[in-house]
Amino acid sequence: RQAHRFEVLFEITKQSATFFQQQLFKPSGQSAQHYIQQRGLSATILKQYAIGYAPAGWQNLLEHIGQSPENTQHLLTTGLVIENPEKQSIYDRFRHRLIFPIRDIRGRFIGFGGRVLSPNDKPKYLNSPETPIFQKRQELYGLFEARQQRRQLDFLLVVEGYMDVVALAQNGIPNAVATLGTSVSQEHVTRLFKTVKEVIYCFDGDEAGRKAAWRALETTLPFMQDGYQAKFLFLPEGEDPDSLVRKEGQQAFLTRLKRSSQSIADYFFQTLCEQVDIQHMDGKARLAALAKPFIEQLPQGVFYQLMLGHLAELTGLSEQALSELSQVPSQLTT
Ligand code: CTP
Ligand code: MN
Ligand code: MN
Ligand code: MN
Ligand code: MN
Repeated sequence: RQAHRFEVLFEITKQSATFFQQQLFKPSGQSAQHYIQQRGLSATILKQYAIGYAPAGWQNLLEHIGQSPENTQHLLTTGLVIENPEKQSIYDRFRHRLIFPIRDIRGRFIGFGGRVLSPNDKPKYLNSPETPIFQKRQELYGLFEARQQRRQLDFLLVVEGYMDVVALAQNGIPNAVATLGTSVSQEHVTRLFKTVKEVIYCFDGDEAGRKAAWRALETTLPFMQDGYQAKFLFLPEGEDPDSLVRKEGQQAFLTRLKRSSQSIADYFFQTLCEQVDIQHMDGKARLAALAKPFIEQLPQGVFYQLMLGHLAELTGLSEQALSELSQVPSQLTT
């Protein structure tokens, strides 16, 4: 029953995605076409990512798809239309926006992101709400498309936005995925490491991006089984992957990835060392106290041993002493 219920929802989201794609090529889609050109997206990329346009007006999608009460209900369930109980009216969620359909790993349409075409309109991005078929902490935008384009993915880039994913693909780097306006979740990391052994986080070169990077480190540490790699590429201030790859091109961006991405271990110790005065004993004690709880999150293995060994090296403490450090809280509570 549940499966059947989802099937009809996927049918509705698929029809909606097709509707949005068709609207792009109508006369009313001209401003969206213009916007797409401005951002350097080709017809091939539009097709690969099924990008479309939700026309201006309140009931275009509703009138096209919601002919029956059942279909209207499915549009409501998938968040494509919204009900206003006071006015007893139903209207399209996405109006006059560029549409990025979101697919699950099997290629089924599960949600949509919509971008305004004019900088004066707000909010810049509007996304489908959580629905029975769309859970944001599970899904990665672009994962299906990346796997379509590359049989064998060497690594995955994790970026912030739809446009980053699409612009990288446009510039010959089709293996980027984005979290959907949320931070990187445990479910995301699990899915990433099921797909590849190397993940590179590449967030925007701004304060929000740097904060997101540290949160991604915290979420990723418990999944660092031996043989898996996580890296971080920090971009120049004010750049994001879209702006940078458009500016410098595929080769320079790949070179940057290769030369400038930092391992999770380096990023970890560098960040903590910036917060203490490593020259002095109190700084070393603080470093040990700061680092230990994170290192304890790592799965047992060689990487854990190396991280502990490096902390020992930095602080001058023996690994034995560091191990006992972690036992302090538990001794206090017993
Ligand atoms: N986002 C969102 N709602 C907003 C702003 C952002 O959901 N009001 C999400 C979107 O998924 C967006 C991502 O956060 O793609 C990153 O936001 P931001 O860096 O502001 O946008 P860009 O992706 O750089 O968008 P653009 O280049 O089109 O301006
Ligand atoms: Mn940003
Ligand atoms: Mn951005
Ligand atoms: Mn951007
Ligand atoms: Mn070392």
